[in-house]
Amino acid sequence: MPRRFTAERLVIASHNPGKVEEIAALLAPFGIESVSAAALGLLEPEESGATFEANATLKATAAAEASGLPALADDSGLVVPALAGAPGIYSARWAGRTKDFRIAMAQVHCRLGDKDRSAAFVAVLALARRGENTELFRGEIRGRLVWPPRGDRGFGYDPMFVPAGGTLTFGELDPAEKHRVSHRARAFAKLVETCLRDD
Ligand code: IMP
Repeated sequence: MPRRFTAERLVIASHNPGKVEEIAALLAPFGIESVSAAALGLLEPEESGATFEANATLKATAAAEASGLPALADDSGLVVPALAGAPGIYSARWAGRTKDFRIAMAQVHCRLGDKDRSAAFVAVLALARRGENTELFRGEIRGRLVWPPRGDRGFGYDPMFVPAGGTLTFGELDPAEKHRVSHRARAFAKLVETCLRDD
C-alpha cells in the first residue's frame, strides 16, 4: 500500500528545464516546494534502462539517495507505432549532444515518409523515498504528427504533435491547456489520486 506524500519539499529529478517547469507547475497547487536536480548540482545518472519505468526509477532513486529528499522523476518520450515505437525511450537522444529538437523532429518526419502519422506521448513518473518502494504512474496521450513543426511553446517534439481531436500542436497550445491534457498531467493525476489526495 503506497504511503501518502506528506513532505513539503521534493527534488524534481530532471535536468530538462521544460520538464522541470511543467512538473513544478503541477506540484504548486499542493503546496509542495520543488527544487530541481540541476539546482542541487546532482549528477544525471545514465539512462541505462530498457523501459520508461526502469529509467524513471533509476533517476528518482539516484536523486533521493544523493539528496536525502523524496524525489520525483519523469521518463517520457514520443512513441510512433509506424517506426516500431521509436524514438520512445531514446527521444532525448535523437536530438544529439546539442539537444537540437529541430534535428530530432526532422529525423522522425524523414523516417516516416508516407507511413501512418499516428503517435503518442508517454510519461512515467517515479516517486522515490528513502527506504520505501518506488511508486510508478503512467500516462499517455494519443495524437498525430504534422509537418512542418508549428509553434514555439512547450519543448522537445511539441511543435509536431497534435493531440487527438485537436487542431493545434502542443507547440501552439496555451501551456495551461497542455497541462490539462498531457501524458505528464495524466500520470500526475494518478500520483495525486494515490499519494496526494486527502480523503
Ligand atoms: P527523458 O525522459 O529525459 O529521457 O527525455 C524525454 C524526451 O522525450 C524529451 O527530451 C523530449 O524530447 C520528449 N518529450 C517528453 N515529453 C515531452 C513533451 O511533453 N513534449 C515534447 N517532447 C516531450
